[in-house]
Amino acid sequence: MKQTRREFLRHASLATCAVAIPRSAYAEAPFEDVVAKVARRQLLPDSYPETEIWGYGGLVPAPEIRVAQGDRVRRRFRNEVPDPSSVHWHGIRIDNAMDGVSGLTQEAVGTGETFDYDFIAPDAGTYWYHAHNRSYEQVARGLRGALIVEEADKPDIDREEVLVLEDWLLDPESGQLFDNFDQPMMMSHGGRIGNFITVNGRFDLTLPAKRNERIRLRVINAASARIFPLRLSGMSGWTMALDGMPIGQPQPVDGEVILGPAQRVDLIVDVTEDEGGTAQLLRIGDDDQLTPLVRLSVDGTASSVSRDTPSPLPPNPAAHTPDLSEARDLRLVMSGGAMGRMQSALLGGERLGFRQLAQAGKFWALNDVAEMTDTPLADLSLNEPVRLKIENQTVFPHAMHLHGMHFREVRPDGAFGPMRDTILLGGNESREIAFIADNPGKWLFHCHMLSHAASGMTTWLRVT
Ligand code: C2O
Ligand code: CU
Repeated sequence: MKQTRREFLRHASLATCAVAIPRSAYAEAPFEDVVAKVARRQLLPDSYPETEIWGYGGLVPAPEIRVAQGDRVRRRFRNEVPDPSSVHWHGIRIDNAMDGVSGLTQEAVGTGETFDYDFIAPDAGTYWYHAHNRSYEQVARGLRGALIVEEADKPDIDREEVLVLEDWLLDPESGQLFDNFDQPMMMSHGGRIGNFITVNGRFDLTLPAKRNERIRLRVINAASARIFPLRLSGMSGWTMALDGMPIGQPQPVDGEVILGPAQRVDLIVDVTEDEGGTAQLLRIGDDDQLTPLVRLSVDGTASSVSRDTPSPLPPNPAAHTPDLSEARDLRLVMSGGAMGRMQSALLGGERLGFRQLAQAGKFWALNDVAEMTDTPLADLSLNEPVRLKIENQTVFPHAMHLHGMHFREVRPDGAFGPMRDTILLGGNESREIAFIADNPGKWLFHCHMLSHAASGMTTWLRVT
């Protein structure tokens, strides 16, 4: 007897119901390993020795992790470096227990030990992962890499490139990292700025490209403290997303794109350079000098016509706007650093003068406190809207990063900026951010110039 197609489908669906796949089957998907290792890599030109680094999988940058939006990410972290560590999944709206902050959300994982990270990636976008114990050393040694969450509705592009920007402070004689991670001069100034820059582990990254090719560039500033002002040459492009979150209508790149430490930008670029030429992603130096970070050598033509403005990336579920009339007002005053006005601050409950603080390795304070304390900056109730004024009373720029939730800048005219997880403040600049405290847990808020975070610029929020 022949089954009609319809009957067949009905039976098929009944059959599926009968053997309904238990959720636990999904849960039992194996953990993949993320192993922090000491290794040697050729970062410098070949005439130099290899550099000893700490890298996930022994690589710098770490192997890219790529998942689909909504996927469950399961990674077994094994620590094989000679220092306790943990992994932070930067920018992911994560379950607090999986946030990877040593001393706040988990114990640091000792050498030879493991920790299982198991979380959902709710938002598509460009994220990254990095060590979060003594980050000013561990990240600078190389424990950092890209975490890409793909949207279901892919943009119309020819291809994409993930670009992980790192810098290294190397002894030019030995080719090894200077191990002066907590040097006071660095901590009290701009942080550990490297003297050698790599993109995807290469100082001379060159990629092939075609004329009129449309490429998505996912650019990640994974450096410890360096700000990257970027410029395009031989390409025209649009900003599509910042810190993972689509900005809505694509913004033409006109002039420079600035990435503070930990910030990301998704660009869609069209190669306008002629065949045989070289398009470039350039870094603008302090003296306005332009240095190539990535070269695209143009060979062949992808299409004879240039295309229209790309469509916006699909919005993420996190894309909301807080109601400011209901918002809890918070204030954060940042002080300290070289050439600053900070006379004293609290450390261990005691008021210490600048010299004593410096002896204790503290050079900065948030609301007059020069360390991470047991009490949070604020206790928030779940879904409470928050408006936070950040006043940078130092002469240095700072990249303030909030864990667990994205925020929007509230501009002086009251307009909201795009959603971000890290905001770059110029010296002596005040900015306001607002967010909805919709993720319960203990969330760090700190400067991502990592030596600043270690020397006073770390606080936290509790959402219950
Ligand atoms: Cu990307 Cu608390 O860090
Ligand atoms: Cu800072």
